[in-house]
Amino acid sequence: MHTLLADASKKDAIQQAARYLREGSLVAFPTETVYGLGADALNADAVRRIFAAKGRPPDNPLIVHIADGEQLPTLVREIPAVAQTLMDRFWPGPLTLLFKKSANVPGVVTALLDTIAVRMPNHPVALALIRESGTPIAAPSANVSGKPSPTSASHVMEDLSGKIEFVLDGGETSVGVESTVLDITQPVPVILRPGGITKEAIERVIGRVVVHPSVHNKDVLVDQTSSPGMKYRHYAPRGSIILVEGTPLAIKKTITTLLSRHDSAAVLTTHSFSYPTRHIFSLGTTSEEHARRLFSALRECDATHVKTIFVEGTNENGLGLAFMNRVRKAASRIVHV
Ligand code: TXA
Ligand code: MG
Repeated sequence: MHTLLADASKKDAIQQAARYLREGSLVAFPTETVYGLGADALNADAVRRIFAAKGRPPDNPLIVHIADGEQLPTLVREIPAVAQTLMDRFWPGPLTLLFKKSANVPGVVTALLDTIAVRMPNHPVALALIRESGTPIAAPSANVSGKPSPTSASHVMEDLSGKIEFVLDGGETSVGVESTVLDITQPVPVILRPGGITKEAIERVIGRVVVHPSVHNKDVLVDQTSSPGMKYRHYAPRGSIILVEGTPLAIKKTITTLLSRHDSAAVLTTHSFSYPTRHIFSLGTTSEEHARRLFSALRECDATHVKTIFVEGTNENGLGLAFMNRVRKAASRIVHV
């Protein structure tokens, strides 16, 4: 299959992409978090092709993307008050909410769960595409399953060229990690996946929420009904990641020592430290920058063929929770110093 790559700012590109979606084809598109691999959420055959193109396990449900609050009642059985409060404050934006699923949505979208994950992305291209196609769009991240999520159209092409019909290029994404997935069907809402909207920001609006144990520990096995996606290895480049956690100075000392024992190693620094290796990737110093740059740095490490990637741990405030969650899930080893 030939994959068409179109500049989203060019005349007719979005209309063309929408035509592909309407006829059951797959279209990758930018959102503010990462690129999504979209299909018409109400077309079961099209959605099935998403799983095939990504090599995604069929028991890992998809997020449905909408552009307008009016699309929600066709997807869900009820809209709780807490959802309305969160939508008013955070949509469009990187917050995905779990609702009770309506019978209109094919079971393949939600991996036969009784809940459905929905979000309204805050990106003009994504919103225009959903409106133009006239249907909600089911979309996971547009990477091959297990690889870091794509933050540019070239990442999407790397993984999916020849496997999907169309890629809309809207430049680099701004948030860089995926949306926060929040289960509001529980008495106390549960963060199943930390992401672009922080726990602190959510708590300022609705009070206490809890973080699912799998967010901190990659070895926690999750039962099928809570967050099926979390049990798979994620975000992993070809090189092995060694995450080093501790005080900044202890981290620097440890990585410097370990570097002398590894031939071909890179360092992802979250403190702008320098090291005796050619392969240093500075992720900036704020948690927003760390989140924005992580996935593309992991892909660049692959391009340099390093065997080991040391990552400096950070605190888990704000976007730090999402950053550390992604690094832990990708890590082969975690060292506490
Ligand atoms: O920012 C994002 O969320 C991006 C962009 C494209 O919107 N999408 C994304 O999709 O990251 P994906 O499929 O890579 O991750 C979706 C996550 C998975 O962890 C999945 O298990 C969880 O959401 N999820 C989806 N539906 C669910 C449900 N009904 N119950 C529990 N977890 C669900
Ligand atoms: Mg994904």
